[in-house]
Formats: sequence, structure tokens, C-alpha cells
Amino acid sequence: MIPVTPLSAERSSLLATDISERLNAAIREHLLAAFAPDSTKTLREFSAPEVAELLGVSGQFMRKVHGEEVIPEPKINRGGRRYYSAQELWAAREVLEKSSRKKGRYLPRRSSDEKLQIWQLMNFKGGSSKSTTTVHLAHYFALHGYRVLALDLDPQGSLTSMCGISPEIEFDGLTVYDAIRYDNPVSMAEVVVPTYFPGLSIAPARLLLSEFETESAVHSNGDQPFFTRIRNAIAQVEGDFDLVLMDSPPQLGFLTISGMAAASSIIVPLTPSMLDVSSTAQFLELAGAYMGVIENAGAELRYDHFKFLITRDEPTDVPSQQLTSFMRALFQDRVMSATALKSTAISDATMLKQSIYEVVRSEMTRGTYDRARGSMDAVGSEVEAMVRQTWGRK
Ligand SMILES: Nc1ncnc2c1ncn2[C@@H]1O[C@H](COP(=O)(O)OP(=O)(O)OP(=O)(O)O)[C@@H](O)[C@H]1O
Ligand SMILES: [Mg+2]
Repeated sequence: MIPVTPLSAERSSLLATDISERLNAAIREHLLAAFAPDSTKTLREFSAPEVAELLGVSGQFMRKVHGEEVIPEPKINRGGRRYYSAQELWAAREVLEKSSRKKGRYLPRRSSDEKLQIWQLMNFKGGSSKSTTTVHLAHYFALHGYRVLALDLDPQGSLTSMCGISPEIEFDGLTVYDAIRYDNPVSMAEVVVPTYFPGLSIAPARLLLSEFETESAVHSNGDQPFFTRIRNAIAQVEGDFDLVLMDSPPQLGFLTISGMAAASSIIVPLTPSMLDVSSTAQFLELAGAYMGVIENAGAELRYDHFKFLITRDEPTDVPSQQLTSFMRALFQDRVMSATALKSTAISDATMLKQSIYEVVRSEMTRGTYDRARGSMDAVGSEVEAMVRQTWGRK
């Protein structure tokens, strides 16, 4: 336990430092308890039916390829049931892809003439589910065989900590800031690190990233405009990924706008409440004005997709359903068909810095898990369809 002594009250600066030190110590303890023994995140195993579903094959097909020793047996077999690590799932994709007649059936990664997908989740309304949606999409795509880069543009570092790096404690590694700063930036390849989740890498953020806001106000100029810096950083690692997912801070500053100038598609997550809808209207008005400034500076902003996603959807809440219908009537297919349901399964998982994909189904009420998982799968699959459409695939 952390000793509880009175907080410094002499000066506000001391009070703030004192609170931050205590919080950090408490977080360290909490993390150690949650992810013992070495405080690093690990990923669960996946059951045989789940793996068959992720691969898009039948259970019978799986038994056949195991019988013929096409796919090696997974290490874990409990009572005749196979359980796979995500690495084993990834390895199975590679083996099956080699013998598949349809290219991209098991390893759907892009070819050289299919452009890198850069999707930004943005809205300056705090708590609109930007980070939660980003991490769920990242896990969905990684589990479906895509090479994903999660790029954290938020100095709060929520996405970074969901990816297993705790920006609030003992993290002094390189961050996105180091790749986009004006003075002697490092290469993006040095910033990007693989995560514990196979197929997913992270370009981390921490508080220092907010320096980009102040520095851009001073250093951005015609020779090195701020809005090219994220785009250029991503270009340095382009060959390693199929999809980049950028989480944004809840403000329309230089970081968010730099992201917008790099993005090929945008998702605006939106909770169906009157306050959120009206603040989103203001946000988009301002975003439109900034996009105009960037376009006038000679940059081309053309999005393949620009969509609203209803988040924390409550099908039984009448006012929120009315607002959702209103948005759909007004913007039609600009609002994604799938919604992210409000669910305790999601909020409980994110408390442990996990997505629903990391939760073991039997540890939750089945119905609750299935509804949350189904909803996140529907969101992921709709985005996947848009990605594939951009690539000109069926
Ligand atoms: N589908 C959901 N069901 C239940 N709770 C959710 C859901 N999506 C998000 N939440 C909860 O809402 C809160 C805010 O979500 P999140 O951090 O993703 O928002 P954000 O837009 O990234 O916030 P910020 O603007 O601070 O970056 C979190 O506590 C999260 O657990
Ligand atoms: Mg966030």
C-alpha cells in the first residue's frame, strides 16, 4: 500500500507534483497487480471455432488441414480442444495463403499498387470513443491478417497504454514527437515498435508530444509546413503496413490538423446526445476552415471515405435513437450502418486497458460479451469493406 500522508498545500505547483507522483505510484501498483509478474501485457489464446471464423473457414476444414499436417498442431490442446496463440493464427495464415488459389484469401495485405490506408479518428468532443474505437479497429484488422500501425497523436497517450506501453510510468522511449519535431527529427522507423499483439505496431505518444503544438506556432513555415510532418513520418515506414490508424486528441490543434493532412479517410466518432451532436457541428465547421487553409497552402486533401460512427449506442434509449435517426436522415450513408454499442463489456475491458478481442468470453456474461463483440466486429467489417473497396477488391 502507498502511505497516505497529507498532500502539500503550500504552493499549487507542489500540490500538482505531489498528486502526480502519488497517482503514478498507484498506477504502477495497479499495473503490477493486473499484469503480473513483469507488468507487460500478453494476449490470450483463441479457441478453434474462433480461429476458424477469423480465417473464414469451417471447423471441418481446420480438422482436415491439421490431419494432413498442413498446419502444425498448436502448442495447447486441452481435453482434445485446440487453442491457438495469435502467432499461431498468423503462421496458419501464411501457410494457407501459399497453397490458396485465391491470392489474398488468408493474408489480405495490400499489393504495391494498392495504397496505404491512413484512417484518422477525430472529434474534439472529449470522450466520444476515439481511442476505444481506434484500438478495437486495430485489433480487428490485426486478427484478420493486416499489418497495422496504431499512431497515437494524443499526448494523453491512451492508445499507447492500450498497446501495452504505459506513458505515465517509466517510459522514456522515442515517441511520435521525435519523428515530427522541427529540430533534428529521428526516423519514424526508430519510433515504431511492435506490440505484444501480432500484426500490430505502435508509434507511441506521451505528454512531450504536446510540444509540437507550441513549436509549430513558431517553426512552421513555407519550407517546413507543420501539416506535412505526420504525412512525411508515415511515408518513412509505409512499406511495412497495410493500414495506419490514428487516434487524435480532443482538440483541433496542430497535431489533429497534421493528421488530417496525412489521412486518406476519416471517421468522426459521435455519441448520440444533443450536446455531442452540436459540438461536432462546431468542430466540423472549424475543421472545414482549417482544411481550407491547408488547401490554399497547396496541399491536396482528398478523402476516400469521410464517415460518422455512432458510438456508445443505446438501442433502448429513445432520445438517443431519435438523434441517430436524425443524423442518418440528414447525412445518409455518411453515417456508418454499424454502431458501437454501449456495453459494460467494453467499459470493463478498457478499465484493464484491453479491447473486447482480448477478453476471454467465459469470464463475462455470455450475452453481454456476444453483443459487444458482435457490434465491434460489425464496425470492423464495415471499415474493412471500405478499405477493400478503395483497393478495388471485391
Ligand atoms: N462502446 C462503449 N461502451 C461502453 N463504454 C465505452 C464505449 N466506448 C467507450 N467507452 C468508455 O467511454 C470512455 C471514453 O472513451 P474513449 O477514451 O475512447 O474516448 P476518447 O474520445 O478517446 O476520449 P478523449 O477525448 O479523452 O481522448 C472510456 O471510459 C471508455 O471506457
Ligand atoms: Mg482518447
